[in-house]
Amino acid sequence: MNQKELFAEHLRSAMEQKQMKQVDLVHAADQAGLKVGKSHISQYVSGKTLPRADIAHFLADTLEVEEEWLLGDASKEDFFEPKIDRSSLTDNKKPPVRHFSKSSKLDNVLYDVRGPVVDEANRMERDGTNILKLNIGNPAPFGFRTPDEVIYDMRHQLTDCEGYSPSQGLFAARKAIMQYAQLKHLPNVDIDSIYTGNGVSELINLSMSALLDDGDEILIPSPDYPLWTACATLAGGTAVHYICDEQSDWYPDMEDIKKKINHRTKAIVLINPNNPTGALYPREVLQQIVDIAREHQLIIFSDEIYDRLVMDGEEHVSIASLAPDLFCVTFSGLSKSHMIAGFRIGWMILSGNKAVAKDYIEGLNMLSNMRLCSNVPAQAVVQTALGGHQSVNDYIVPGGRIYEQREYVYKALCDIPGISAVKPKAAFYIFPKIDTKKFNITNDEQFALDLLREKKLLIVHGSGFNWKEPDHFRVVYLPRIEVLEDAMGKLGEFLEYYRQ
Ligand SMILES: Cc1ncc(COP(=O)(O)O)c(C=O)c1O
Repeated sequence: MNQKELFAEHLRSAMEQKQMKQVDLVHAADQAGLKVGKSHISQYVSGKTLPRADIAHFLADTLEVEEEWLLGDASKEDFFEPKIDRSSLTDNKKPPVRHFSKSSKLDNVLYDVRGPVVDEANRMERDGTNILKLNIGNPAPFGFRTPDEVIYDMRHQLTDCEGYSPSQGLFAARKAIMQYAQLKHLPNVDIDSIYTGNGVSELINLSMSALLDDGDEILIPSPDYPLWTACATLAGGTAVHYICDEQSDWYPDMEDIKKKINHRTKAIVLINPNNPTGALYPREVLQQIVDIAREHQLIIFSDEIYDRLVMDGEEHVSIASLAPDLFCVTFSGLSKSHMIAGFRIGWMILSGNKAVAKDYIEGLNMLSNMRLCSNVPAQAVVQTALGGHQSVNDYIVPGGRIYEQREYVYKALCDIPGISAVKPKAAFYIFPKIDTKKFNITNDEQFALDLLREKKLLIVHGSGFNWKEPDHFRVVYLPRIEVLEDAMGKLGEFLEYYRQ
């Protein structure tokens, strides 16, 4: 191990021992008057660089360890232990306490929707600060209640849901999903083509783990819902990001997709309607993606969890309906449209040409069996939720909360000098652009942290969605208009003086 790696290992173990996260060190450095950014700390932690003398001194002091030990000076390795360990030694001959680090498989995994800025918000909340949260697409805390009938039916069936279900899910739940798939014109779907999951999240992970070998590539949008990139990476694959173009209503850039395909590319991921942009892809755009997938024999993964949250009278088209000759996997669930994100129920539907994916489907079945089944009480309400009156429809028309909140937030953002945005057509997110020259912004995570510390307002920076430039952020417009007014007022005030 070289000195940088040794330093990184000691730093990680001292941080764990002190229960300090990277953002805590950034914050502590700030208070100590030192300029140490998140990127510095993450370089140290991953063994890429050694700190300057003053920063090394600060780190050792803050983490209460010997500086020489921390720096991983190999010649001192035998002589220095972390100060923190000494107290736990009753007998000088005992070896130093062993520390456990996370798997290196997680080194390149990013999930900033609940990342360091959120850690800082949690710390501030613990200290008693009230934070205005526009960071997470969780309808319930914003007063979006589950339809009563869903609750009645879950209560009614609870005692029948004590055991495991078949691993792919209860027959009745899958039948209801199958009928939904028929309404969306998904071809070649039978009951065995449907898998329920503990949210779409579990199935994204499962579908990536079953597919990707080291070196396999998968096309994922930028910006993306970062779980896709995280799970592809964790599975050993390489996420290759294709651009969604803000100038064209955030539609995927076909030329960029074509440029990025090679013999290692196995699949393309689509998020439609999109998180974080709120875009909805029209049939012509979907057709172009199908044509590319057909030419290069790619699997299409389509995340359609917002398919029932579409505004302005637009229709959501499932891409799988346009590709009967290709193998497609379509994801959806009840977290967003039925406001039961906490119940954890989602599904994936295999459609089209399943013959080409026989072996992959075996892998899916294996992983599905290994997790036994998804949450059974939540499966029990799928039939109720998908049938009858859809209360979400009242939210997405003029006068409905999601519609009116979108109207408000879009206008309010565009009225702030230096901010522009494409009006979202679906879901409940907007992904505005910041004029980085005007505000001299080079680090969007720093922008999010500064906004949080100064205005107690929590948003997610664009790079949290695998967006490469520091010029965007995401706003969740689920809060009521009064709360959004407060938030937009604070953002406007902040941007009157903020310069990075
Ligand atoms: C595009 C997208 N896919 C999947 C999920 C996860 O949904 P679930 O609650 O079903 O796990 C989210 C949650 O925000 C999302 O935005």
